[in-house]
Amino acid sequence: MKKIKVLSIFGTRPEAIKMCPLVKELDKHEEIENIVCVTGQHRQMLDQVLDIFQVIPDYDLKLMKDKQTLTTITTDVLISLEKLLPEIKPDLVLVHGDTTTSASAALASFYQQIPVGHVEAGLRTYDIYSPFPEEMNRKIISQITELFFAPTENNKKNLEKENIYKNIFVTGNTVIDAFQYTVKENYQFKNNVLKEIDFDNSRIVLMTAHRRENLGKPLENICKAVKRIVENNKDIQIVYPVHLNPAVRETVFEILGNEERIYLTDPIDVEDMHNVMSRSFLVMTDSGGLQEEGPHFGIPVVVLRTETERPEAVEAGTVQVAGVREEEIYTIVNRLLNDREAYQKMARAVNPYGDGHASERITEEIIKWSKIHV
Ligand code: UD1
Ligand code: UDP
Repeated sequence: MKKIKVLSIFGTRPEAIKMCPLVKELDKHEEIENIVCVTGQHRQMLDQVLDIFQVIPDYDLKLMKDKQTLTTITTDVLISLEKLLPEIKPDLVLVHGDTTTSASAALASFYQQIPVGHVEAGLRTYDIYSPFPEEMNRKIISQITELFFAPTENNKKNLEKENIYKNIFVTGNTVIDAFQYTVKENYQFKNNVLKEIDFDNSRIVLMTAHRRENLGKPLENICKAVKRIVENNKDIQIVYPVHLNPAVRETVFEILGNEERIYLTDPIDVEDMHNVMSRSFLVMTDSGGLQEEGPHFGIPVVVLRTETERPEAVEAGTVQVAGVREEEIYTIVNRLLNDREAYQKMARAVNPYGDGHASERITEEIIKWSKIHV
């Protein structure tokens, strides 16, 4: 039997969390030769995920640099893949979402005329500077893509608005598949700070913030709002695993570094993360992934951005976009902490992102496609 060669390329934490369940699924099918290449755009934060899922990449481009820029990541990925792709000769390259690794890997594949499958296709804010550069990255990927794996019907409609009609499959989001590997009932935390928290008798606010467009003033505003929220709500504790980007850490540690009941940790592994989220009272975040995860657990999510490409949970009422001004963030979060009715309205588990079988659907479509095209 001729096997179809599927090469998954990813490089950052969120891509890995959402691609590993798919890599595991592809592995189950003997008609597929399942190859993984990580760019290493992230290092520690990527390796944390690979360890949890026990995915060992076939190729590691080891690209992360301390002060990498969008240009250096892009050119490093292009140059490395220009050499590697002709060696591997994949029938299909899979990329995920909207990172610079994903856009560059799609472009590198296009240069070798290798078809691309885009996992998490069709998300849009219609503002190319927010999120930056992710909105443009995913638009570029859409121009190159052969197989579109859209998490929701709404994502499919976004593609259709851009006159893309062929090969769009609504699959759900693979992040929901990831929970099967990470969420456990009697979970024992590994992180020392999390080990000490009494989740049953305190209200935990889980937060993350790292986006490029929030660096500087917006992140300062966010941190100042958090400081006020904690001062005014004596029963809450903030858990904030801080991204390893020095530009993020500098601001966050300066403003929140010495505050009581604010726990700043290094990035925690995805098992700890999903289990702390499922036990939290509220999530505050500028991350994309957390906006999909909170609703699954029925935990309200306050988005520290001016827009979102994930309107499904906003429409369902469990996600609220707060913006990046101190006063607005303070008011919205303070209300959720003190107004039971407002909180209850948001704290409902909704599941616009699928049933945990997205990876199976994607694999099935790849196999069907390969029978005609490979
Ligand atoms: C990238 C993605 C963003 C995604 C985020 C997930 C782009 C343009 N951005 O942004 O879409 O939301 O990842 O976290 O692709 N660092 C480490 N160790 C790590 C990871 C990062 O030290 O494991 C530090 C390095 O100094 C690195 C810096 O963080 O230079 C920034 O990393 P980079 O991947 O360039 O940007 P992110 O903000 O992480
Ligand atoms: N996450 C994690 N550890 C952390 C922070 C986040 O495992 O310390 C997970 C989180 O649960 C989600 C993903 O990382 O699955 C989100 O990634 P990130 O915020 O880096 O990127 P984004 O989703 O914004 O692209």
